[in-house]
Amino acid sequence: MSNLTIDSTIMLNNRVRIPLIGFGCAEITPWASEQERIIRTAIDAGYRLLDTAIAYETEHGVGNAWRNSGIDREKFFIATKVPPGTIRGGRKEIVRSFEQSLRNLRTDYVDLYLIHWPPQGKIQEAWEILEYLYYSGRTRAIGISNLNRRHWLEVMATCEVMPHVQQDEFHPYRMNEYNRIFCEQHNIHFEAFSPVARGLLRENPILKQLAEKYNKNTFQIILRWDLQHGVTAIPRSSNPKHIADNIDLYDFELTEEEVAMIDSLNKEGQINRDIDNFNF
Ligand SMILES: NC(=O)c1ccc[n+]([C@@H]2O[C@H](COP(=O)([O-])OP(=O)(O)OC[C@H]3O[C@@H](n4cnc5c(N)ncnc54)[C@H](OP(=O)(O)O)[C@@H]3O)[C@@H](O)[C@H]2O)c1
Repeated sequence: MSNLTIDSTIMLNNRVRIPLIGFGCAEITPWASEQERIIRTAIDAGYRLLDTAIAYETEHGVGNAWRNSGIDREKFFIATKVPPGTIRGGRKEIVRSFEQSLRNLRTDYVDLYLIHWPPQGKIQEAWEILEYLYYSGRTRAIGISNLNRRHWLEVMATCEVMPHVQQDEFHPYRMNEYNRIFCEQHNIHFEAFSPVARGLLRENPILKQLAEKYNKNTFQIILRWDLQHGVTAIPRSSNPKHIADNIDLYDFELTEEEVAMIDSLNKEGQINRDIDNFNF
Protein backbone atom coordinates (compact mmCIF):
# COMPACT_ATOMS: atom_id res chain seq x y z
CA MET A 1 0.00 0.00 0.00
CA SER A 2 2.80 2.44 -0.78
CA ASN A 3 2.39 5.27 -3.30
CA LEU A 4 -1.00 6.19 -1.90
CA THR A 5 -2.38 9.59 -2.88
CA ILE A 6 -5.45 11.63 -1.99
CA ASP A 7 -7.05 10.25 -5.17
CA SER A 8 -6.28 6.57 -4.47
CA THR A 9 -9.14 4.19 -5.20
CA ILE A 10 -9.73 0.46 -4.99
CA MET A 11 -11.53 -1.59 -7.60
CA LEU A 12 -14.63 -3.41 -6.35
CA ASN A 13 -15.51 -6.90 -7.61
CA ASN A 14 -17.71 -5.31 -10.32
CA ARG A 15 -14.84 -3.03 -11.50
CA VAL A 16 -16.38 0.13 -9.99
CA ARG A 17 -13.72 2.15 -8.16
CA ILE A 18 -14.23 3.36 -4.58
CA PRO A 19 -11.99 6.01 -2.96
CA LEU A 20 -9.78 4.86 -0.09
CA ILE A 21 -10.69 7.85 2.05
CA GLY A 22 -14.17 9.23 2.54
CA PHE A 23 -16.16 11.59 4.73
CA GLY A 24 -18.63 10.19 7.29
CA CYS A 25 -21.80 12.29 7.46
CA ALA A 26 -23.46 10.88 10.60
CA GLU A 27 -24.05 13.25 13.50
CA ILE A 28 -22.12 16.16 12.03
CA THR A 29 -24.86 18.64 13.04
CA PRO A 30 -28.66 18.52 13.02
CA TRP A 31 -28.99 21.83 11.06
CA ALA A 32 -29.34 21.44 7.29
CA SER A 33 -27.48 24.65 6.33
CA GLU A 34 -24.66 23.77 8.73
CA GLN A 35 -24.52 20.28 7.26
CA GLU A 36 -24.02 21.73 3.80
CA ARG A 37 -21.25 24.02 5.09
CA ILE A 38 -19.41 21.18 6.86
CA ILE A 39 -19.71 18.81 3.90
CA ARG A 40 -18.54 21.59 1.55
CA THR A 41 -15.49 22.02 3.80
CA ALA A 42 -14.81 18.31 3.32
CA ILE A 43 -15.29 18.52 -0.45
CA ASP A 44 -12.95 21.53 -0.61
CA ALA A 45 -10.37 19.56 1.38
CA GLY A 46 -10.50 16.81 -1.26
CA TYR A 47 -12.95 14.16 0.00
CA ARG A 48 -15.01 12.68 -2.83
CA LEU A 49 -16.61 9.72 -1.05
CA LEU A 50 -19.56 10.99 1.01
CA ASP A 51 -21.15 8.41 3.31
CA THR A 52 -24.67 9.14 4.50
CA ALA A 53 -27.90 7.30 5.38
CA ILE A 54 -31.60 8.04 5.72
CA ALA A 55 -31.12 7.48 9.45
CA TYR A 56 -28.46 10.23 9.72
CA GLU A 57 -30.81 12.86 8.27
CA THR A 58 -27.89 14.35 6.35
CA GLU A 59 -28.86 13.34 2.81
CA HIS A 60 -30.16 16.85 2.04
CA GLY A 61 -26.87 18.30 3.29
CA VAL A 62 -24.91 15.95 1.02
CA GLY A 63 -27.21 16.73 -1.94
CA ASN A 64 -26.85 20.48 -1.54
CA ALA A 65 -23.11 20.30 -0.85
CA TRP A 66 -22.13 18.32 -3.94
CA ARG A 67 -24.57 20.20 -6.18
CA ASN A 68 -23.39 23.64 -5.06
CA SER A 69 -19.70 22.63 -5.22
CA GLY A 70 -19.72 22.97 -9.02
CA ILE A 71 -17.85 19.66 -9.29
CA ASP A 72 -19.23 17.06 -11.73
CA ARG A 73 -21.37 14.29 -10.27
CA GLU A 74 -19.06 11.63 -11.76
CA LYS A 75 -16.22 12.84 -9.53
CA PHE A 76 -18.16 11.89 -6.39
CA PHE A 77 -18.78 8.53 -4.79
CA ILE A 78 -22.05 8.92 -2.89
CA ALA A 79 -23.17 6.16 -0.55
CA THR A 80 -26.40 5.89 1.41
CA LYS A 81 -28.31 3.23 3.32
CA VAL A 82 -31.77 1.80 3.78
CA PRO A 83 -32.80 1.66 7.45
CA PRO A 84 -34.00 -1.56 9.15
CA GLY A 85 -37.49 -0.16 9.89
CA THR A 86 -38.01 0.33 6.14
CA ILE A 87 -36.78 -3.19 5.41
CA ARG A 88 -39.34 -4.57 7.86
CA GLY A 89 -42.01 -2.74 5.80
CA GLY A 90 -41.27 -4.94 2.76
CA ARG A 91 -40.18 -4.61 -0.86
CA LYS A 92 -42.21 -1.57 -1.89
CA GLU A 93 -41.02 0.36 1.15
CA ILE A 94 -37.38 -0.28 0.24
CA VAL A 95 -37.87 1.01 -3.30
CA ARG A 96 -39.82 4.00 -2.00
CA SER A 97 -37.01 4.78 0.47
CA PHE A 98 -34.37 4.47 -2.25
CA GLU A 99 -36.25 6.92 -4.46
CA GLN A 100 -36.58 9.34 -1.54
CA SER A 101 -32.80 9.10 -1.01
CA LEU A 102 -32.19 10.00 -4.65
CA ARG A 103 -34.40 13.07 -4.30
CA ASN A 104 -32.71 14.09 -1.04
CA LEU A 105 -29.28 13.63 -2.61
CA ARG A 106 -30.28 15.55 -5.76
CA THR A 107 -28.98 12.80 -8.01
CA ASP A 108 -30.46 10.13 -10.27
CA TYR A 109 -28.09 7.38 -9.06
CA VAL A 110 -25.93 6.53 -6.07
CA ASP A 111 -22.53 4.88 -6.14
CA LEU A 112 -23.22 2.53 -3.25
CA TYR A 113 -26.47 1.49 -1.60
CA LEU A 114 -26.18 -0.41 1.67
CA ILE A 115 -28.45 -2.32 3.99
CA HIS A 116 -27.81 -0.28 7.13
CA TRP A 117 -28.65 -3.00 9.58
CA PRO A 118 -30.31 -6.28 8.59
CA PRO A 119 -33.43 -7.06 10.64
CA GLN A 120 -33.87 -10.67 11.72
CA GLY A 121 -35.19 -12.90 8.92
CA LYS A 122 -35.37 -10.11 6.33
CA ILE A 123 -31.93 -9.99 4.77
CA GLN A 124 -32.67 -12.21 1.75
CA GLU A 125 -35.77 -10.26 0.73
CA ALA A 126 -33.94 -6.93 1.20
CA TRP A 127 -30.95 -8.15 -0.80
CA GLU A 128 -33.22 -9.16 -3.70
CA ILE A 129 -34.48 -5.57 -3.87
CA LEU A 130 -30.95 -4.18 -3.76
CA GLU A 131 -30.09 -6.52 -6.63
CA TYR A 132 -33.09 -5.16 -8.54
CA LEU A 133 -31.91 -1.57 -7.93
CA TYR A 134 -28.41 -2.55 -9.02
CA TYR A 135 -29.69 -4.19 -12.22
CA SER A 136 -31.72 -1.03 -12.92
CA GLY A 137 -28.45 0.97 -12.95
CA ARG A 138 -29.58 3.38 -10.25
CA THR A 139 -26.89 2.21 -7.85
CA ARG A 140 -23.41 1.32 -9.10
CA ALA A 141 -22.68 -1.03 -6.21
CA ILE A 142 -24.53 -2.64 -3.31
CA GLY A 143 -23.45 -3.73 0.11
CA ILE A 144 -24.32 -4.48 3.69
CA SER A 145 -23.37 -3.02 7.05
CA ASN A 146 -23.43 -4.55 10.54
CA LEU A 147 -23.34 -8.21 9.60
CA ASN A 148 -22.52 -11.32 11.52
CA ARG A 149 -21.72 -14.84 10.34
CA ARG A 150 -25.39 -15.88 10.23
CA HIS A 151 -26.28 -12.91 7.99
CA TRP A 152 -23.46 -13.73 5.61
CA LEU A 153 -24.59 -17.34 5.26
CA GLU A 154 -28.17 -16.22 4.55
CA VAL A 155 -27.06 -13.77 1.85
CA MET A 156 -24.69 -16.21 0.20
CA ALA A 157 -27.37 -18.91 0.08
CA THR A 158 -29.63 -17.00 -2.33
CA CYS A 159 -27.83 -13.98 -3.79
CA GLU A 160 -27.42 -13.47 -7.54
CA VAL A 161 -25.06 -10.52 -7.06
CA MET A 162 -22.31 -10.91 -4.49
CA PRO A 163 -22.10 -7.88 -2.19
CA HIS A 164 -19.50 -5.40 -3.39
CA VAL A 165 -18.85 -3.81 0.00
CA GLN A 166 -19.19 -4.59 3.67
CA GLN A 167 -19.16 -1.51 5.89
CA ASP A 168 -18.33 -2.25 9.51
CA GLU A 169 -16.46 -1.09 12.57
CA PHE A 170 -12.67 -1.05 12.17
CA HIS A 171 -9.97 0.70 14.19
CA PRO A 172 -6.96 -0.43 16.23
CA TYR A 173 -9.18 -1.73 19.08
CA ARG A 174 -11.48 -3.59 16.71
CA MET A 175 -9.92 -5.09 13.61
CA ASN A 176 -13.05 -7.10 12.87
CA GLU A 177 -10.93 -10.08 11.83
CA TYR A 178 -13.77 -12.51 11.10
CA ASN A 179 -15.53 -10.14 8.72
CA ARG A 180 -12.35 -8.90 7.06
CA ILE A 181 -11.08 -12.41 6.37
CA PHE A 182 -14.51 -13.38 5.03
CA CYS A 183 -14.48 -10.33 2.75
CA GLU A 184 -10.95 -11.04 1.57
CA GLN A 185 -11.86 -14.63 0.71
CA HIS A 186 -14.93 -13.54 -1.27
CA ASN A 187 -13.42 -10.45 -2.92
CA ILE A 188 -15.73 -8.08 -1.05
CA HIS A 189 -14.26 -4.68 -0.21
CA PHE A 190 -14.18 -3.78 3.48
CA GLU A 191 -15.07 -0.22 4.47
CA ALA A 192 -14.25 1.01 7.98
CA PHE A 193 -16.77 2.95 10.01
CA SER A 194 -15.77 4.65 13.27
CA PRO A 195 -12.21 4.46 11.85
CA VAL A 196 -10.69 6.73 14.50
CA ALA A 197 -12.64 5.01 17.29
CA ARG A 198 -14.33 8.34 18.08
CA GLY A 199 -11.16 9.64 19.68
CA LEU A 200 -10.81 6.80 22.17
CA LEU A 201 -7.17 6.21 21.21
CA ARG A 202 -5.90 9.77 21.05
CA GLU A 203 -3.57 9.31 24.06
CA ASN A 204 -2.40 5.80 23.24
CA PRO A 205 1.40 5.68 23.84
CA ILE A 206 2.21 3.64 20.72
CA LEU A 207 0.22 5.99 18.51
CA LYS A 208 1.71 9.04 20.24
CA GLN A 209 5.22 7.75 19.67
CA LEU A 210 4.49 7.25 15.95
CA ALA A 211 2.77 10.64 15.75
CA GLU A 212 5.90 12.26 17.13
CA LYS A 213 8.14 10.37 14.71
CA TYR A 214 6.14 11.43 11.64
CA ASN A 215 5.12 14.87 12.90
CA LYS A 216 1.44 13.92 12.65
CA ASN A 217 -1.34 13.48 15.21
CA THR A 218 -2.63 10.16 16.52
CA PHE A 219 -5.78 10.39 14.33
CA GLN A 220 -3.61 10.66 11.22
CA ILE A 221 -1.52 7.68 12.32
CA ILE A 222 -4.68 5.58 12.72
CA LEU A 223 -6.08 6.67 9.36
CA ARG A 224 -2.81 5.95 7.56
CA TRP A 225 -2.84 2.51 9.21
CA ASP A 226 -6.41 2.01 7.95
CA LEU A 227 -5.36 2.83 4.40
CA GLN A 228 -2.27 0.64 4.56
CA HIS A 229 -4.61 -2.23 5.47
CA GLY A 230 -6.41 -1.59 2.17
CA VAL A 231 -9.70 -0.64 3.80
CA THR A 232 -11.69 2.46 2.90
CA ALA A 233 -11.96 4.74 5.94
CA ILE A 234 -14.77 7.27 6.44
CA PRO A 235 -13.84 9.49 9.41
CA ARG A 236 -16.40 12.00 10.59
CA SER A 237 -15.66 15.49 11.89
CA SER A 238 -17.42 18.84 12.19
CA ASN A 239 -14.16 20.70 12.80
CA PRO A 240 -12.45 22.21 9.70
CA LYS A 241 -8.97 21.58 11.10
CA HIS A 242 -9.76 17.92 11.84
CA ILE A 243 -11.43 17.53 8.43
CA ALA A 244 -8.23 18.77 6.75
CA ASP A 245 -5.93 16.71 9.01
CA ASN A 246 -7.86 13.51 8.34
CA ILE A 247 -7.11 13.64 4.63
CA ASP A 248 -3.51 14.83 5.04
CA LEU A 249 -2.09 11.30 5.10
CA TYR A 250 0.12 11.03 2.07
CA ASP A 251 3.51 12.44 3.05
CA PHE A 252 4.53 9.52 5.24
CA GLU A 253 4.30 5.74 5.31
CA LEU A 254 4.25 3.38 8.29
CA THR A 255 6.73 0.53 8.17
CA GLU A 256 5.49 -3.07 8.31
CA GLU A 257 6.73 -3.27 11.91
CA GLU A 258 4.80 -0.14 12.83
CA VAL A 259 1.62 -1.48 11.24
CA ALA A 260 2.12 -4.66 13.29
CA MET A 261 2.66 -2.60 16.47
CA ILE A 262 -0.73 -0.94 15.92
CA ASP A 263 -2.31 -4.30 15.06
CA SER A 264 -1.19 -5.55 18.47
CA LEU A 265 -3.63 -3.11 20.12
CA ASN A 266 -6.58 -5.10 18.77
CA LYS A 267 -9.00 -6.38 21.44
CA GLU A 268 -11.99 -6.89 19.12
CA GLY A 269 -13.70 -4.35 21.35
CA GLN A 270 -16.83 -2.63 20.06
CA ILE A 271 -17.85 1.01 20.43
CA ASN A 272 -21.04 0.81 18.35
CA ARG A 273 -24.33 -0.88 19.14
CA ASP A 274 -24.50 -4.65 19.43
CA ILE A 275 -25.46 -6.01 16.00
CA ASP A 276 -28.36 -8.05 17.39
CA ASN A 277 -29.77 -5.27 19.57
CA PHE A 278 -30.86 -2.13 17.78
CA ASN A 279 -33.98 -0.06 17.87
CA PHE A 280 -34.38 1.92 14.66
N1 LIG B 1 -23.00 1.66 9.03
C1 LIG B 1 -23.09 1.99 10.30
O1 LIG B 1 -23.89 1.42 11.07
C2 LIG B 1 -22.21 3.07 10.84
C3 LIG B 1 -21.99 3.18 12.22
C4 LIG B 1 -21.15 4.21 12.68
C5 LIG B 1 -20.57 5.09 11.78
N2 LIG B 1 -20.82 4.96 10.43
C6 LIG B 1 -20.20 5.89 9.43
O2 LIG B 1 -18.83 6.10 9.79
C7 LIG B 1 -18.59 7.49 10.00
C8 LIG B 1 -17.53 7.72 11.06
O3 LIG B 1 -17.80 6.97 12.23
P1 LIG B 1 -18.12 7.63 13.65
O4 LIG B 1 -18.82 8.89 13.42
O5 LIG B 1 -18.76 6.59 14.45
O6 LIG B 1 -16.70 7.83 14.33
P2 LIG B 1 -15.20 8.36 13.99
O7 LIG B 1 -15.10 8.91 12.63
O8 LIG B 1 -14.30 7.24 14.39
O9 LIG B 1 -15.03 9.51 15.09
C9 LIG B 1 -15.66 10.73 15.02
C10 LIG B 1 -15.26 11.54 16.25
O10 LIG B 1 -13.85 11.73 16.28
C11 LIG B 1 -13.54 13.12 16.33
N3 LIG B 1 -12.43 13.36 15.41
C12 LIG B 1 -12.34 13.00 14.11
N4 LIG B 1 -11.17 13.38 13.59
C13 LIG B 1 -10.49 14.04 14.57
C14 LIG B 1 -9.22 14.66 14.64
N5 LIG B 1 -8.40 14.72 13.59
N6 LIG B 1 -8.84 15.24 15.82
C15 LIG B 1 -9.67 15.20 16.90
N7 LIG B 1 -10.89 14.62 16.90
C16 LIG B 1 -11.30 14.03 15.74
C17 LIG B 1 -14.78 13.86 15.89
O11 LIG B 1 -14.88 15.09 16.58
P3 LIG B 1 -14.81 16.52 15.82
O12 LIG B 1 -16.13 16.67 15.12
O13 LIG B 1 -14.61 17.48 16.93
O14 LIG B 1 -13.65 16.46 14.87
C18 LIG B 1 -15.89 12.91 16.33
O15 LIG B 1 -16.26 13.15 17.67
C19 LIG B 1 -19.98 8.04 10.36
O16 LIG B 1 -20.05 9.44 10.17
C20 LIG B 1 -20.85 7.25 9.41
O17 LIG B 1 -20.78 7.82 8.11
C21 LIG B 1 -21.60 3.95 9.95
